[in-house]
Amino acid sequence: MRRRRVSQDQHSGPWELSTMQDEAEIQARWVEGHEAREQIIELRRRVFTGEQGFGEDMVHHERDADALHLCAMSGETMVGAIAAYLYEPGAPELADLRLPKVDGLSVQIGKRVELAEYRGRLVTEQLGTAMMRQICESLRPARFFLIIRGSHRRLADRYVRRGFVRHADIGSGDDAMTVMVVEGREAMEEFYAEHRALSKRAASDGRRLTVPSLVRFLADSGRDDLLAWNTLMTENNYLEPLSLTDELPRLAAQGQMMIAEQRPRLAATPFPPAPASLLDIGTGPGDYLAAVAKEKVLSGYRVQGVEPSSQLLARARSAFPELTFRRGSAYATGEPDSSHDVITANFLFVHLSSPDLALMEMARVLRPGGLLYVVDVNDDSFRGPDEIRSLVEAHDRHYTGDRTVLTDLPRRAGEFGLVLERRFATTLRNTGGPEPVLGQDEILLGRREGWSLLSFVRSQKVAEDMFQEAEEYYFRTGCEISLDIETQVYRKQAAGEE
Ligand SMILES: C[S@@+](CC[C@H](N)C(=O)[O-])C[C@H]1O[C@@H](n2cnc3c(N)ncnc32)[C@H](O)[C@@H]1O
Repeated sequence: MRRRRVSQDQHSGPWELSTMQDEAEIQARWVEGHEAREQIIELRRRVFTGEQGFGEDMVHHERDADALHLCAMSGETMVGAIAAYLYEPGAPELADLRLPKVDGLSVQIGKRVELAEYRGRLVTEQLGTAMMRQICESLRPARFFLIIRGSHRRLADRYVRRGFVRHADIGSGDDAMTVMVVEGREAMEEFYAEHRALSKRAASDGRRLTVPSLVRFLADSGRDDLLAWNTLMTENNYLEPLSLTDELPRLAAQGQMMIAEQRPRLAATPFPPAPASLLDIGTGPGDYLAAVAKEKVLSGYRVQGVEPSSQLLARARSAFPELTFRRGSAYATGEPDSSHDVITANFLFVHLSSPDLALMEMARVLRPGGLLYVVDVNDDSFRGPDEIRSLVEAHDRHYTGDRTVLTDLPRRAGEFGLVLERRFATTLRNTGGPEPVLGQDEILLGRREGWSLLSFVRSQKVAEDMFQEAEEYYFRTGCEISLDIETQVYRKQAAGEE
């Protein structure tokens, strides 16, 4: 039987560690296969056949035309590239690679290549990390795989350290190849956590090659059917691990504190004049929206809440019959284009797997000039002893949402025409020591109340064991912990605005 040939993967060199001095000159760009075909082929040919002695077949992949290509550009010159090839369940190539059926998309990462003079600068390393992170967030694949051939098979351990397992050795001699795979819910979650952590580490080391939004690219190129709509529409990372009996009183207490904290922020925000309409996304039991709707600055507004959970929706409708609540998700609100003057997202963003997709939906629904008003915690602002910090970090690493998403939200929102206009932070402080003198943007919490700030941590199995130890430490010592609540106000640019 004639076997279909699956294009091979190849790498342009070892991943060396070095600091990138002149990264500012390099820009990352998603491109369509047909758009940059010649440049990509030319780059591969130069490296694979010119430098590394591979044959012409190494330069091509049968699925290049439909692949997602992420390239590094220095001016108009392509200096690096990597590709992701997407396979639906049942694709014959998967059987050829002895990959069993999985329920969802399989993504092959391959054709990683960079010009010799750019090696050692982590260019394609960063492209690969960002690519896999963004694919996890918005395409929600069931599996990643890659193929390594010939002498590069000795590099298999490097991929093992990244979460891949050696799946199959196929062929012999010059044709021998190793298929490396990540699959299964737990392994994929760990893989995502690792790639998200790596992206953040690169950013905080100043080694950051900013990779634009894959969601934006797919929407602009008319390929948004690739996004994992079905999975994302049914997802609720917030509710999944919770008991509502415990959570509703916590949320109500949080709402009361927040309305006091928000009053001056709301008053200082230039909301469009009434009559106007406000859409609150992820509205929950409705208490907070009902309280906000009474604020003077929003009087005369039509107010509506959107919530995906039937339980919370029923609770909101019965508690506040005077308000309108609809079922919907942050990714698909069901609202018409340009239909609202203000969108609020209160403690929503940290629970989303795909913040970019939510930003795109919000930008669609807002009128030009309208405001997106985001309030959320940011764990990057956490201050406290290592005993408690490590608990927060363990939780955050494994949470499918992202409790530090606000740090990079202004850049991400900018890709959807949402420009940050105002940013406020309130520090929630708590100490077992002498009462501190508080700054203007600080709130002092009681000792128990302060600990309840961290109650979310219990929802992660990995943090369960650490929780008791940290709790004991917290109440035994007079340690101080603090966390910021951030308010970010964005304006949707009008057409033609820079
Ligand atoms: C922490 S609660 C905040 C509720 C309310 N905004 C408040 O501040 O009291 C998070 C809310 O986001 C909702 N949520 C979770 N995932 C969502 C999604 N993908 N789209 C819209 N809402 C979502 C949850 O059901 C929940 O109501």
